[in-house]
Amino acid sequence: MKPSIRFTWNQLRIFDAVARLSSHTRAATELHVVQPTISAQIKLLSNAVGMPLFEQIGKKIYLTPAGRELQETCREMFDCWARFEMKAADIKGVKAGTLRVAIVTTAKYFIPRLLGPFCRLYPGIDVALEVVNRDQIIERLAANLDDLYIMGVPPDKLPSARHPFLENPLVVIAPSEHPLAGRRHIPLSRLAEEQFIAREAGSGTRIASEKFLTAHRVKPRIRMQLGNNEAVKWTVAAGLGIAVISRHALMLEPMHDRLAVLDVQGFPIRRSWYAVYPEGKKLSVVAQTFFEYLKQEAFSIQEELLGPSRSGLAATQAKKKRHT
Ligand code: PGA
Repeated sequence: MKPSIRFTWNQLRIFDAVARLSSHTRAATELHVVQPTISAQIKLLSNAVGMPLFEQIGKKIYLTPAGRELQETCREMFDCWARFEMKAADIKGVKAGTLRVAIVTTAKYFIPRLLGPFCRLYPGIDVALEVVNRDQIIERLAANLDDLYIMGVPPDKLPSARHPFLENPLVVIAPSEHPLAGRRHIPLSRLAEEQFIAREAGSGTRIASEKFLTAHRVKPRIRMQLGNNEAVKWTVAAGLGIAVISRHALMLEPMHDRLAVLDVQGFPIRRSWYAVYPEGKKLSVVAQTFFEYLKQEAFSIQEELLGPSRSGLAATQAKKKRHT
């Protein structure tokens, strides 16, 4: 079948970049071409379609309805072509192609440790990794921008396949000189007397900790909310409050000594990390390979990722304190 609209693959790439970046200049920089090339190719493509693809309002450009349809079509065509390339490589006996993974901020503490050996095992696979907050992950999942999504709280509303592959315990941290540091079996209700440093609304850590505390009728007094784990840790270390944080965020930390993990009843909150993708999506060869790898390998390096005594950490710290 010969398409009635004549276009080139290059024009679609240019159009996709302009649509994504809402700018001819940024698209030119991304594609390493000069701006007149971008404008000329967009004009040729609009002529071929027979309708404008963008409209300009003030200094900004927006997709027209035809442009939005074309953007959707481009995504499907690029995905389809990438799947073909991977299948062709697979037939040749090589796993090759680009793996696109989007992860929530807290997953950045362990995903690179899994990706390292994976990339050594499959040198033909390139990885494009996006580290964003949970709200942005959900947006990316809804727009089907990546192959796999790593998060602690899969969305309720979007139909998606989800598979747990690693523990994700949440612990309570306090400054190391806090009066509760080193105490055993602190009642959960005692936390209501403390000031909390919370993650931003919408963060997986925040959602899970609020759910847990509400279920146990503890109303945390939130003194401050911060957009990432580093800021939370530094603020806690500075003595401004206590926080609930993923155990992963405490590993390999130079400032670890300035924080104590409290032995609070009911903690750590036991959770999992999930690999998620839109329901019904056919995973590409490389995405399927990484997915299988996560399922097989992640649990085996759990001790390494979370430390030798996950639940015993508070006890170890209490012991250390008694000896000092
Ligand atoms: P967060 O997600 O980085 O958005 O808090 C982590 C999690 O769900 O545990």
